[in-house]
Amino acid sequence: MFIAQLSDPHVDTAQPHKAGALRRAVAFLLSLPRTPDAVLITGDCTEHGHPQEYEEFQAALAPLTMPVYVVPGNHDRRDELLARFAPPGQSLDGFLQYVVEDWPLRLIGLDTHWPGQGAGQLCPARLAWLDRVLAQAPSRPTLLFMHHPPTATGLRVLDEIGLQGRAELCEVVQRHPQVVRVLAGHVHMPLTASFAHTTVMTCPGTDATFQPDWAQTEQLVIQYQPPLALLHRWDERSGLLSFTAALDAAPWVTLHDGQRWAG
Ligand SMILES: [Fe+2]
Repeated sequence: MFIAQLSDPHVDTAQPHKAGALRRAVAFLLSLPRTPDAVLITGDCTEHGHPQEYEEFQAALAPLTMPVYVVPGNHDRRDELLARFAPPGQSLDGFLQYVVEDWPLRLIGLDTHWPGQGAGQLCPARLAWLDRVLAQAPSRPTLLFMHHPPTATGLRVLDEIGLQGRAELCEVVQRHPQVVRVLAGHVHMPLTASFAHTTVMTCPGTDATFQPDWAQTEQLVIQYQPPLALLHRWDERSGLLSFTAALDAAPWVTLHDGQRWAG
């Protein structure tokens, strides 16, 4: 199974380059010789949660022929997303939090949206639902995806809009060794950290990657670097392997033809 992850497109009618960047990300995924089986979008689909922004967001995704699974970010409107992206499987009422059973890897989308807040939240109801759903299939390898990563960043400004309920989520995941990865967005940078028995990874934004100035962790000073996607490949033998891909369709070059190295 081959899964692409895009994050934080922040589609904004006043900033048309944001939707343009998402359209380029979509074109990149479709240009891959092996196209993804599914696409995850880990939140902040729009900048202000306006219906017109969601129209643009959906129009940018329209060329994708594979299932697209979305979770809300702090910039989103849960009701708008719920109306446009019905949960594709068993879900928690009132949230865009659901399980997808269609693949060898079980996918669980978590809703960390906290209305009016930049920070995210996993309340007892969302955590209890997750614990219950994980207990239903203890032997199926499972991927969790969400907007707010359950990790610190070391950058004060981002940590102030981090996830509430992180320790509680860690306790839930600890009880379910089948969780093979936790994927998130929100921070617009590629971050990898330990979490319970597994690993959390974040995907940068579709329009840019933030490179923080580590000499100034009390502020948020960044370089804008080219946007990235994460490509996650699963099979029984290798498990889940996660690759970072620049959203840039460069020519394909055969370095080894299966018999020998190119000269
Ligand atoms: Fe965010």
